[in-house]
Amino acid sequence: MCSPFLEYRQKCRVLAIGYLFFVSLTSVFITSSTACSNGNCQVLEACSAPTDCGAGLYCGNCPALGRTQPICTRGQATNVTSIINGLPFNKYTWVITHNSFSIVDAPPLPGVQRLTFYNQEDTVTNQLKNGVRGLMLDMYEFENDIWLCHSFQGQCFNFTAFQPAINTLKEVEAFLTENPTEIVTIIIEDYVHTPKGLSNLFINAGLDKYWYPVSKMPKKGQDWPTLTEMVQANHRLLVFTSIASKEAEEGIAYQWKYMVENEPGDPGVHQGSCPNRKESKGLSSRSASLFLMNYFPTYPVQADSCKENSAPLADMANACYRAAGNVLPNFVAVNFYMRSDGGGVFDIVDKMNGRTLCGCNTVTACQAEASFGSCKNIAVPSTSPMSATSGSFTGSVQFSKSASPVHSPKCLLHFLFYLLLIAALIQL
Ligand SMILES: *[C@@H]1O[C@H](CO)[C@@H](O)[C@H](O)[C@H]1NC(C)=O
Ligand SMILES: *[C@@H]1O[C@H](CO)[C@@H](O)[C@H](O)[C@H]1NC(C)=O
Repeated sequence: MCSPFLEYRQKCRVLAIGYLFFVSLTSVFITSSTACSNGNCQVLEACSAPTDCGAGLYCGNCPALGRTQPICTRGQATNVTSIINGLPFNKYTWVITHNSFSIVDAPPLPGVQRLTFYNQEDTVTNQLKNGVRGLMLDMYEFENDIWLCHSFQGQCFNFTAFQPAINTLKEVEAFLTENPTEIVTIIIEDYVHTPKGLSNLFINAGLDKYWYPVSKMPKKGQDWPTLTEMVQANHRLLVFTSIASKEAEEGIAYQWKYMVENEPGDPGVHQGSCPNRKESKGLSSRSASLFLMNYFPTYPVQADSCKENSAPLADMANACYRAAGNVLPNFVAVNFYMRSDGGGVFDIVDKMNGRTLCGCNTVTACQAEASFGSCKNIAVPSTSPMSATSGSFTGSVQFSKSASPVHSPKCLLHFLFYLLLIAALIQL
């Protein structure tokens, strides 16, 4: 474990300065008139109210990048299957959320002050509606049940717990039922040791009917079935566990048999390099046909995420592409997935899909019936892909109520969290 304190203090100071800067400029924003309004504003155009921006966009800013003017920012993925459908699952790239359950504003346990960090800002239902197609969930045994929780050394505490996992899985079940052509992947950091604990959990959530059987997963790096085949078979939920023995015991796929993955967290996020996670085979090994690109710092800082999810994410994507022997990832995992300086993870995933699916700079330039490399003339970064004919999703791109652009009180909470963890460790 690294020691985040010093860096953390610096971040807090930066936050405080950024916040003052932001406040001092707010009056300027309010009085400055914008050229567009009433839902006509495209991505990157200046805005002053949430209603200014077009579909799939919100009016956001990025003080961490020194930006002083809010702009319309993407909050939704492109519905890729409305452009190019029917290719093998492993040809596509999907946005996935790291710690999807760790949501700002999630109510704490009764009588407990939650002291932990947060990674996302809207509900799992809303994430799915915005086009997120993978969830990274940490599951623990807690209170005689299976909970979503942050922890230290495999233990869930009442002040780091979120909620019983079944609640979130029922949200996934409702989404898959309402959207019969969508496919969702769940990647579990698994600390559940009760035999059949996980399999019963998924059955109780009603998700067994969408289960992709392990026996049908490609084991030697071959292509997956096409999206069309997966939808027809109703095999629309892929679940991976980090515990190898559950594959034989419970029929839950062992993640690193099917997926290569780069190092997550601070050890992994270094410009220019993309080392593989220790549990994973080498990124260029071709032994598994899925590739998960992790892109998030160990300790999430909401105010920094718009900066992280912008140019540095594109650089990291290039480094990972090279490290994987010129293969693009299938999953790009981020914190605060809606935060960026404009296009964020959505633009990057569009570019990846464009290259792999049709040989174009971005997927909105693909033409359904055209040959590979025959592209529509779309500038990259484009104007709002949501205002193009490509499908727009339906999730809200407003954040939950207390998620302000700068969330500085979390610094103090983080600090207390580490102190408490140390106290807990000394007792153990
Ligand atoms: C995405 O587009 C496809 C094809 O047009 C459509 O069937 C599907 O319902 C869309 N998905 C969502 C979540 O809107
Ligand atoms: C939370 O857990 C601690 C021990 O870790 C315990 O002392 C405390 O009573 C618990 N609080 C509640 C409200 O359950």
